[in-house]
Formats: sequence, C-alpha cells, structure tokens
Amino acid sequence: MAEPTHRDFLAIPDLSRAELDGALALAERMKAGDYVAKPLKGKTVAMIFMKSSTRTRVSFEVGTYQLGGHALFLSPRDVQLGRGEPIADTARVLARYVDGIMIRTYGHREVEELARHADVPVINGLTDLLHPCQVMADVMTMRQHLGGYAGKRVAWIGDGNNMANSWMNAAATFGFSLALACPEGYDPDAAILARARAAADVTLVRDPAEAAEGAHVVTTDVWASMGQEEEQADRARAFARYTVSADLMARASSDAIFLHCLPAHRGEEVDAAVIDGPRSVVWDEAENRLHVQKAIMAALIGGEPLA
Ligand code: CP
Ligand code: NVA
Repeated sequence: MAEPTHRDFLAIPDLSRAELDGALALAERMKAGDYVAKPLKGKTVAMIFMKSSTRTRVSFEVGTYQLGGHALFLSPRDVQLGRGEPIADTARVLARYVDGIMIRTYGHREVEELARHADVPVINGLTDLLHPCQVMADVMTMRQHLGGYAGKRVAWIGDGNNMANSWMNAAATFGFSLALACPEGYDPDAAILARARAAADVTLVRDPAEAAEGAHVVTTDVWASMGQEEEQADRARAFARYTVSADLMARASSDAIFLHCLPAHRGEEVDAAVIDGPRSVVWDEAENRLHVQKAIMAALIGGEPLA
C-alpha cells in the first residue's frame, strides 16, 4: 500500500510545534474575520458521534459550512456502526464518499483503527483517552488572555481523564508548566504523563491547593465523563475535596483565568461563583473551538498550508 498522503489529528503531537503554532495563527485570523477562503468548497465532512455533544457537533458543522463545505451528522442510530459493522469497513466506505471524518467515540484504538483504514484525514472529536481539539481551543484562549505560554503555570484539578491527558500533551508541546491534582485512583494516563514529564515541567499531586498555588490557569472537568455515569456516586465521594471554589482560586495568581471545557456541573467540580465569576473565560473558550477546528480542517482537509 502506498504511503498515505493525508494527515490525521488524533492527538496534539500528531502535528509539529510549528504546525500547531500555524493552526493557532490561522484560527486567530479566522476569529478576526480576516480569512475569507473556502478551502472546503465542494467537500464533505462526515461527523460520527457515538456519544452526545453540543459544542463539538455544532462547531464542526458550522465550521465546515463557513469553509464552504458540507457536514454530515452520523449518530449510532443512523449508521450501521451502531449495529456492529466493523470500524475498518466503515472507514473504507466513508472514505469513498467524503473528504474528511471527525469522530467522537469511546475507545481511542477505534479512532486509530478508523484512521488506519480511511484514506482521508481523520480528526478526533473526543475519545476516552484524549480531547485534542478542546485543548487546542484552551491553549488559544490561554494565549489570548495571558499573552502566551512561556513561564505560565496551569493547574488541572480533578479527574485524570481525556482532558487531563490532552493538557499533558499540550504542556509537552508548548512548554508551559502543568500541575495536576487528582485523587488516588484517578491518575491520568501513565505513558502520556511519563512522556510529558520528559519534555516539560509536569507534576502530579493529590492536594488541589498545591496545584493551584500561583497558577495562571485553573481548569477542571466533570467528575464522571461520558460512559462513566454509573460511577457517579463513587466519584462524587472521591472528588469531594476537588471543587474549584473561590477559596481555591484565591491561591492562584491574581490574574489567573478559569477554564472548563463544558458541560459543567455547578456545585460539583466548580462553584457557580467561579464559573460565572470575573475570572472565568469559558465562553471565549467554547467559541475558540469553532476557530481552531476550522483552522485544522482548512489545513488537513482543505490543503491550507500551516507552517
Ligand atoms: N467540550 C465539549 O467537547 O463539549 P460537547 O460535549 O458539548 O461537544
Ligand atoms: N471528560 C468529559 C469531557 C466532555 C467534553 C467527557 O469525556 O465526558
């Protein structure tokens, strides 16, 4: 089989630092209204959603339209994947019709398998392991509000989940410090942690106050991710000390911002006073999904140069 000519975006390290910087710069131009090209004109993007979504679904669909293309929403009820058709067969068939695939599902391996068998770019819209598009939007938000990443310190409070893992990848690439406070038994992925530690100042602690001390970004996520609904009660007990409260924010730098990928549960992982307070930039963060994903699609599917 010939070497693939397309690129996928399954994880932040799939693109080089220069390409990621290029994607962020392109996203800034898109946000400023300074980009009118239609690189997806005549192209179709299939969006496979095996889990629920508000932001990812709407931002990918709107973004595809704004770039001149057409997006297809495919839920398990609509496609044979939901009735057990193999992912490899789905990939081979979709690639004969569409120009790119965005997928949100459970196992990260399924996405890797889809990408192996699809002859078109595949973009990860969240797996149990990673959520790279969200963390690219978070990094964009961080740059807009803090002016850059050099010397910045990010505090992750809570579950060592897909968001935590992608934050570790981002720290390794962009070079900011990351302190994760996770309860025992809820650590992030060990291999990603080891790789990130080798590249950047990444630490794992148990005490949220220790992670938040002097941080420029404080961020968290739900205690039970999609697919973990039955663990909700156990998790609520394990994470009881991990709420991002005004007291915890007071430990951070005086200009610290609060990020949350959303959806949020006020009174659980974050207090309303924080997420609805002056340091919260979660709406900018949600908006940036649109711009950053448009930049990634323009490059991977539309041939827009990045670096
Ligand atoms: N943050 C995020 O991915 O939101 P959705 O689940 O609504 O897509
Ligand atoms: N960790 C959450 C993120 C939702 C956008 C989940 O996987 O459900």
